[in-house]
Amino acid sequence: MQDKVVLVTGGARGIGAAMAAAFAAAGAKVMVTDVLKDVGLATVETIRQAGGQADFVEHDVRDEAAWEAAVAATVRNFGTLTTVVNNAGIEISAPIAELPIEVLDRLMSVNVRGLALGMKHGMRAMRPGGAAGKGGAILNLSSLAQLSASPGTGAYAATKAAVDRLTKVGAVEGGKFGWNIRVNCLYPGLIQTEMLEGLLRQQVRMGFFQNDEQVADYVVDHTPLGRLGTVQDIANAALFLCSDLASFVTGVGLSVDGGIALT
Ligand SMILES: NC(=O)c1ccc[n+]([C@@H]2O[C@H](COP(=O)([O-])OP(=O)(O)OC[C@H]3O[C@@H](n4cnc5c(N)ncnc54)[C@H](O)[C@@H]3O)[C@@H](O)[C@H]2O)c1
Repeated sequence: MQDKVVLVTGGARGIGAAMAAAFAAAGAKVMVTDVLKDVGLATVETIRQAGGQADFVEHDVRDEAAWEAAVAATVRNFGTLTTVVNNAGIEISAPIAELPIEVLDRLMSVNVRGLALGMKHGMRAMRPGGAAGKGGAILNLSSLAQLSASPGTGAYAATKAAVDRLTKVGAVEGGKFGWNIRVNCLYPGLIQTEMLEGLLRQQVRMGFFQNDEQVADYVVDHTPLGRLGTVQDIANAALFLCSDLASFVTGVGLSVDGGIALT
């Protein structure tokens, strides 16, 4: 990743922070962006302490002007932009019959609007004539939720299905328009982050399980590899899809879930 400049949204913590650290360890220059300023700055400091090159911009992915500023700051600081990782996302559970419509709007706004803006401004910067102009790669975070159907996950899953479709169409456009921009997505299974803790609590609150441990045990029992995922599992797959090892890979949705989607 020596010649790569990567912008990672939602990079302050969780999967985003692990991907940012993995890219930097592999030699990339990384722009961490997030709404969580202090956490984001701490993540960048950790990467720098480990010898990596990273910077932070405060950035709400729902805001188009903030996208323009984040891309411009990346090109200004690091000379170019080769890779956009649309990782920022939120998860809120509710059975469809109980779904407050403003919850659906919030999910759509971060997970779909924010991600589509990331694809738009990533493509505009990386396509010929753009501020970076040399092609590149976009990686989107979809989810196991778009492949499966668990009670309470309908609205979240709908946003992640939208991410999947945006990825496939983006891959065709990024190739056919002659831009040499690859677009792929990941379908993470259940990965140990603050988001997962929230999801387990909501499953209990909705009455589907007695306690958090019972949900986790259920997931592990249904996972052929017999464990929850780690942020490093996702970072490793992201590293592959964003590197030149994947130079002929576009339009792919890669499951990183210990096999749970099969069961
Ligand atoms: N953890 C899992 O089990 C899991 C499974 C499948 C997919 N995913 C997806 O992976 C991605 C990362 O999830 P995570 O588990 O690390 O979650 P997380 O909640 O730990 O981290 C998400 C990050 O996104 C940031 N964010 C939220 N809204 C934002 C906004 N409007 N603008 C900018 N940043 C914003 C948060 O501040 C946070 O730093 C998400 O898109 C999520 O849907 C996670």
